[in-house]
Amino acid sequence: MSARLVVLVSGAGTNLQALLDACADPAYGARITAVGADRDGIEGLARAGRAGVPTFVTRLKDHDTRDGWDAALTEAVAGHAPDLVVSAGFMKLLGKRFLDRFAGRVINTHPALLPSFPGTQAARDALDHGVKVTGCTAHFVDAGVDTGPIIAQRAVPVLDDDDEDSLHERIKAAERPLLVETVGRLVREGWTIESRKVRIG
Ligand code: GRF
Repeated sequence: MSARLVVLVSGAGTNLQALLDACADPAYGARITAVGADRDGIEGLARAGRAGVPTFVTRLKDHDTRDGWDAALTEAVAGHAPDLVVSAGFMKLLGKRFLDRFAGRVINTHPALLPSFPGTQAARDALDHGVKVTGCTAHFVDAGVDTGPIIAQRAVPVLDDDDEDSLHERIKAAERPLLVETVGRLVREGWTIESRKVRIG
């Protein structure tokens, strides 16, 4: 039986697309049972639609409190019974209720070599800092901002004439295969986490 994935997106969804493409091969070991978003009208939702994957949208502004939004998102995701939740360019912090419900089963992809440059502007921050190498990180999500146990990382060079877009695109070209490889290995081989150290298999 293939593992059930729910993927959360907020934008273009190219990481989602890489996962959709990988899941087309039964040997990959996973299938996407739903794609959720925090906003309408994004390409990520269109990609899911074209692939015939159910979608849902849970918008913060439709709820009086952040806790209410957290509860609604938790229920929406739980309805699809995921083995693993993948935050792939989801631009909201997941709440306590959500993380309690899916404890240890939520992963995120981040466009920097954590713990450097957490947050929403990782490529710009790396550029501003003048680092020569940055990269991407697949990690489990905890209550902090991009602080959870690291599963896998890949390095990407920063070039002299990079701007934020060119650097972020180069990072995303490394991020997509890293995410596909990481999710595939997790679902096929299982994992353990001991004092932050993630071991697959
Ligand atoms: C990725 O770089 C992700 O790490 C970041 O936003 C980007 C999303 O890209 N948080 P996409 O929507 O998967 O194309």
